[in-house]
Amino acid sequence: MAERDRDVWDARHEGADPEPTAPFGADHLPAPSVGTHCLDVATGSGVVALWALDRGMHVTAVDISRVGLANLASTAERRHPDAPLRVVEHDLDDGLGVDGAFDLVVCRWFRDPALYDALVAAVAPGGWLSIAILGGDGPFAGTAEELVEGFATLGPPIAAFSDERGHRALFHRAG
Ligand SMILES: C[S@@+](CC[C@H](N)C(=O)[O-])C[C@H]1O[C@@H](n2cnc3c(N)ncnc32)[C@H](O)[C@@H]1O
Repeated sequence: MAERDRDVWDARHEGADPEPTAPFGADHLPAPSVGTHCLDVATGSGVVALWALDRGMHVTAVDISRVGLANLASTAERRHPDAPLRVVEHDLDDGLGVDGAFDLVVCRWFRDPALYDALVAAVAPGGWLSIAILGGDGPFAGTAEELVEGFATLGPPIAAFSDERGHRALFHRAG
């Protein structure tokens, strides 16, 4: 990613006060999740990461934006001092940037088909994957077919969403 694109994202995240937000499909997750591991890819200011911390999960959050990651870290520290949170400043153009397998992998409103295989590989056996992309013409817009084909190795999704604006989401369980 070009440095000026990172500046654009930093500016967008400046002053954000992230509110914990469940990822698509979260109502299918069993409770409790305490001690399980969540990977939030392109976390931004960390709305999903904060939701996962609220559930007692260990969270790894990846993004290029230092401002977004700082927002997440400071909000997490306020809500859960000593929270099991790892923030990873990384350019996803160079791959996922983290190793290991996670019980829940989330990628919300960031789209890069080149990462789909790595996202699948990051889900632990029996784990879950939630992916959501935007519709329209923006950089993170994609098609329903792209998502279905991109995650076909996980089998049929447990839940799928699409709307007239082209927003798409899938929720999968790894076998
Ligand atoms: C629309 S925001 C979504 C943030 C978050 N997932 C959410 O649901 O609120 C897209 C995020 O992708 C990040 N991003 C864009 N390109 C990236 C790249 N090449 N590497 C890492 N992060 C990137 C931006 O910094 C931004 O935080």
